[in-house]
Amino acid sequence: MDGPPVLELRNVEAAYGAIRALHGLSLSLGPGEVVALLGPNGAGKTTTLRVISGLLRPVRGQVLYRGREISGRPPALIARMGIIQCPEGRQVFKNLTVRENLILGGYRLGDPDRERRNLERVLTLFPMLKERLRQPAGLLSGGQQQMLAIARALMADPEILLLDEPSLGLAPRVVEEVFEALAQLKAQGLTMLIVEQNAEKALELADRAYVLEAGRMVLADTASRLRENPDLIRIYLGR
Ligand SMILES: Nc1ncnc2c1ncn2[C@@H]1O[C@H](COP(=O)(O)OP(=O)(O)OP(=O)(O)O)[C@@H](O)[C@H]1O
Ligand SMILES: [Mg+2]
Repeated sequence: MDGPPVLELRNVEAAYGAIRALHGLSLSLGPGEVVALLGPNGAGKTTTLRVISGLLRPVRGQVLYRGREISGRPPALIARMGIIQCPEGRQVFKNLTVRENLILGGYRLGDPDRERRNLERVLTLFPMLKERLRQPAGLLSGGQQQMLAIARALMADPEILLLDEPSLGLAPRVVEEVFEALAQLKAQGLTMLIVEQNAEKALELADRAYVLEAGRMVLADTASRLRENPDLIRIYLGR
């Protein structure tokens, strides 16, 4: 990691009522870094993203963005600060056109010039969307909807992009396409925290990764070292 972290979680505990989902989680994200968050179902990966984006207030611990505590701040404010979550399951507005979905993503900027520039940028990244701007998003394939969901998040000009399972339910060829786009974003210097079941793809993309199990961090290392870690290979990579 170069320079002080842009995002840091310190001993974060989170719960849904009586159900404790995170038991003292600490992690950090450096500028321009791509970090993967891996782990089995129910490990607390989505919960971690929800705590960062302000959708869930931690019971204990801190979330720091550029050294400032943001835990407990409203999600809209955190989004305005530049932390943008691309939620699991795509969640595009199916009755709105592709263009309308994108415009909504850039809404928080309130700046037509930036909006236009961002629109150009995302259409360069996902040329497929360009031909479909006037179509209802519901008519897109699953893979296209995932790309639209990422593009919509990018319209907000994120400082940090949080991605929850971007490859879930997609055909292998489409997974490749999505990860190629993420690799381009990484090359452009975008800081990303990516939750993925597809550990192989995530570790190819990421600089570092954390492995969560039952709300606790069990492994943290560079992606290249984790790819050679016997436990990780056995459980997550199936080699
Ligand atoms: N809305 C909720 N109400 C109650 N418990 C919840 C809720 N959401 C998640 N949990 C519980 O919190 C724990 C962590 O869930 P979380 O969704 O963060 O896991 P995850 O790692 O994202 O799993 P998955 O791979 O299935 O998406 C689990 O035990 C889950 O059952
Ligand atoms: Mg999840």
